Amino acid sequence: MLPLVVLGILTEALTAASPTQREDRSVYVNPFIGTEGPDGTGANSGDTFPGVSVPFGVVKLGPDTTEMNPSTNAFAGYTPDGNVTAFTCFHECGIGGASKYGVVGHMPLTTLSGVNVLDNATYQQPRIAMDRASVGYYRSDLANGVKVELAASDHAGFVQYSYPKNTDRFVLLDVSHNLPSLAEFGKSQSYSNGQIEVKKKGQRVQGWGVWRGGWGVLPGSDYKIYFCNDFDSAPLTWQYFSGPWNAPDNPPSPSTPVTWGNASTNPNGVQGGPDGDDSGDRVGALFRFPATTTVLKSKIGVSFISVEKACAFQSEIPSWTLNQTVQSTKKLWDDEVFSKISIKQSTKNDTRLTLFYSALYRMHQMPSDRTGENPDWKSTEPYYDDYYTLWDTFRCLNSFYLLVQPQRGIDMIRSLIDIWRHVGFMPDGRSGNHNGKVQGGSNADNVLADAYVKGYTGGINWNDGYKAVWTDAEVVPPPNNDPEDLGCTDNQGRCGLPDWINLGYVSTTFSSSISRTVEYSLNDFAVSQIAKGIAPDDYQKFFNRSGNWKNLWNPEINQYNTSGFLGPRYPNGTVITIGPQDTSYTTEGLPWEYTWTIPFDMQGLIEKMGGVEATEKRLDLMFVPKLRTVDLGVGVGSGTTLFNPGNEPSFGTPFLYNYLPGRQYKAVNQSRVNIDENYFAGSNGLPGNSDAGAMDSWMLWQMLGLYPVVTQPVYLILSPWFEDISVSVGGSYTLRIKAHGLSNNSFFVQSLKVNGKAWNKSWLEHSDIAKGGLLEFVLGPEPKSWDTGTVPPSPGHQ
Ligand SMILES: *[C@@H]1O[C@H](CO)[C@@H](O)[C@H](O)[C@H]1NC(C)=O
Ligand SMILES: *[C@@H]1O[C@H](CO)[C@@H](O)[C@H](O)[C@H]1NC(C)=O
Ligand SMILES: *[C@@H]1O[C@H](CO)[C@@H](O)[C@H](O)[C@H]1NC(C)=O
Ligand SMILES: *[C@@H]1O[C@H](CO)[C@@H](O)[C@H](O)[C@H]1NC(C)=O
Ligand SMILES: *[C@@H]1O[C@H](CO)[C@@H](O)[C@H](O)[C@H]1NC(C)=O
Ligand SMILES: *[C@@H]1O[C@H](CO)[C@@H](O)[C@H](O)[C@H]1NC(C)=O
Ligand SMILES: *[C@@H]1O[C@H](CO)[C@@H](O)[C@H](O)[C@H]1NC(C)=O
Ligand SMILES: *[C@@H]1O[C@H](CO)[C@@H](O)[C@H](O)[C@H]1NC(C)=O
Ligand SMILES: *[C@@H]1O[C@H](CO)[C@@H](O)[C@H](O)[C@H]1NC(C)=O
Ligand SMILES: *[C@@H]1O[C@H](CO)[C@@H](O)[C@H](O)[C@H]1NC(C)=O
Ligand SMILES: *[C@@H]1O[C@H](CO)[C@@H](O)[C@H](O)[C@H]1NC(C)=O
Repeated sequence: MLPLVVLGILTEALTAASPTQREDRSVYVNPFIGTEGPDGTGANSGDTFPGVSVPFGVVKLGPDTTEMNPSTNAFAGYTPDGNVTAFTCFHECGIGGASKYGVVGHMPLTTLSGVNVLDNATYQQPRIAMDRASVGYYRSDLANGVKVELAASDHAGFVQYSYPKNTDRFVLLDVSHNLPSLAEFGKSQSYSNGQIEVKKKGQRVQGWGVWRGGWGVLPGSDYKIYFCNDFDSAPLTWQYFSGPWNAPDNPPSPSTPVTWGNASTNPNGVQGGPDGDDSGDRVGALFRFPATTTVLKSKIGVSFISVEKACAFQSEIPSWTLNQTVQSTKKLWDDEVFSKISIKQSTKNDTRLTLFYSALYRMHQMPSDRTGENPDWKSTEPYYDDYYTLWDTFRCLNSFYLLVQPQRGIDMIRSLIDIWRHVGFMPDGRSGNHNGKVQGGSNADNVLADAYVKGYTGGINWNDGYKAVWTDAEVVPPPNNDPEDLGCTDNQGRCGLPDWINLGYVSTTFSSSISRTVEYSLNDFAVSQIAKGIAPDDYQKFFNRSGNWKNLWNPEINQYNTSGFLGPRYPNGTVITIGPQDTSYTTEGLPWEYTWTIPFDMQGLIEKMGGVEATEKRLDLMFVPKLRTVDLGVGVGSGTTLFNPGNEPSFGTPFLYNYLPGRQYKAVNQSRVNIDENYFAGSNGLPGNSDAGAMDSWMLWQMLGLYPVVTQPVYLILSPWFEDISVSVGGSYTLRIKAHGLSNNSFFVQSLKVNGKAWNKSWLEHSDIAKGGLLEFVLGPEPKSWDTGTVPPSPGHQ
């Protein structure tokens, strides 16, 4: 028998779950958030992708633009100020490093005067108005008068060109086109080879391209994509073109000779070089349409498997009416994403809704669901690529998927395990079907453990899941000889494992030895949590190893009247006393920041820091302006505090107040400050790279009033930003979050009821909300020490 109070909750939750009148929440999505930095260019932006896609879509269709600032790149294709060189089907969202993709697409031209088809500088087009975008729709107005509109399905793009009157009408398809990296030519993508064939009197063009490189993957890491493009009308004439391969930093001159061809000269199309060639000729085609073609439409199917599949994928877009594809894509987003969270406000604040739903949108761009499109092995498991990277997303985005999009969260985990089955290691970063770029630990371990401790099964083979995390914890990854870090395998696994196992810490033999040590500690805690159920004999070993962070504790390191930090050690054990803002031994963060990242043993950390009062003082220092004296080189959104709101290592820090009895209000305060100062509804709206939605999920959790503690079935309690939120959890349940007394200046928790019970703990267990629930906050303008109950657990305490 259910107690009455529970029934009451269920009824209330259910009524909230099924709104009779569906709101169009896509109106709150601004796809341009994160595309600009403070100076209005792409520099120091969130590197977000503003084009069209379905949730986790293979196709992300958008413009590719030139970028003249050599210190930055057109990471996601779009920059506000660059010139357009093409509209292409593949992009990443929110990444830094070296650009990736920007492949398979075409460019409309109105004249060939001065144009060398091999040299994009001779035909690139400025835009005469701001691009426009909404969920499922994109528009650019080019200086040559062509209006370009885009829509997309999962594996196909829809491009519509409206040509001005009294001009010629061309479409240029350059197979070699891709996004280069001006900032780091050594890591730049480049074209390797391609093939193109025009059929059906010019109405169909198909073929493939091979490209390599880009951020995080080694030279030689090829990816091959097949394409099949149909125009809605036949061209008047068309021609193949080809020309010599050129390196990304060695543009062809305008006089580079072009070889032309046609169906008679090249009955089987044109191929750049023999299969496997890494410097094949550039190939393409140029189409000329009649004056009667004022509006030209095309559907581009893409596949990693075959041209036949690429052509077949066009049927995902049954209509030749752009708007119908726009509407069905919008509907997909609403069904799968926006409808999962509904919000009621007594006084409507569109800015907040825009921040919220735009973040939710970006959280569903990556990774790309390439199930059925894996060229490397056959499997019945789901396949996801474009993990960019788990180092970014493990902290809170993957926990969001598990709670709100459980099928997606589970499928991603199954895909990670399947990659381990066939590649030998799970990825930390992955794109173009290659594991790449480990920045510290092996963070897939954390993602798996998070699901395991929360009891997710859903087709996950946990025996294999354990073997996969065990591999990270025990098997030294083979060298990958990345010139960027010859001393440390950086495409998978844990390069510092020899030290970790023999010394109990990662020594200065390896780069980023402090941050690797602290990340391996969490990774081994994660492994121990799965071992507990799957391989109990292994549990104690990994649990013990999770305490290794203490081996880097150096009481001599001090600053600002605070002593005791994680510091480096030589392989012979000798400690090195550095300043806690010295970043020589960390990845993208200060020892000040990394010293906080022990979420599984806050009790042990508080002891090391000298108790609750001393920990509170130290935590307060993290948020004092101007205490940071070094440039972290990770975006100007990083501010001047030791806490860096612009990058992932600091994500958990503000909420650690929840571990100090009665100080939860300080977590709420810092969370408010963070969002007020760093998130905006305009293009310059993110404090750092979106990092595949990681930065966005960090904000979104805070607005819900919760924050997950990854690898534990625990959520820290903050303070919601809306009066009444209904979140779909576990697939079919509703978590309702209500806030009485919320206003501009009234957001401190006064009291809380969880599922009808008065609550004095600053945290929840997963089981409190996994099958729905009701959180009733009473908020007020003054801080209150309401959190007098048991502090959040420290399950890794030894
Ligand atoms: C864009 O094109 C215009 C006109 O052709 C040119 O003046 C400008 O330098 C180009 N800008 C970039 C970023 O390539
Ligand atoms: C444009 O041409 C340059 C020089 O060949 C090349 O590096 C770049 O990849 C091309 N494409 C884009 C999108 O800029
Ligand atoms: C194809 O190109 C060849 C060589 O330029 C030319 O002689 C021929 O007329 C062209 N054929 C067609 C159908 O355009
Ligand atoms: C697109 O379709 C929607 C839904 O059918 C309709 O409301 C809207 O007016 C259409 N827009 C255009 C530009 O046709
Ligand atoms: C709406 O929310 C934004 C972002 O939190 C805030 O800056 C603004 O003051 C709010 N507007 C009103 C009218 O409350
Ligand atoms: C774990 O650590 C405890 C306490 O130091 C020790 O007694 C035990 O032998 C260790 N177990 C393993 C498997 O390393
Ligand atoms: C450290 O202590 C000194 C002496 O009490 C004080 O002047 C200084 O402001 C303190 N520094 C910080 C950052 O709190
Ligand atoms: C440990 O190694 C460091 C660096 O090589 C060296 O400077 C130091 O003297 C060594 N310490 C001992 C005790 O051998
Ligand atoms: C809130 O944070 C600001 C900025 O760090 C600080 O000045 C203020 O004292 C804090 N208020 C509370 C109640 O913690
Ligand atoms: C919140 O603040 C905004 C300006 O920041 C103001 O316009 C609005 O009226 C305030 N809302 C309330 C409910 O006080
Ligand atoms: C916190 O709540 C629990 C459960 O209601 C209660 O047993 C406990 O006494 C409370 N603790 C404090 C310090 O109020």
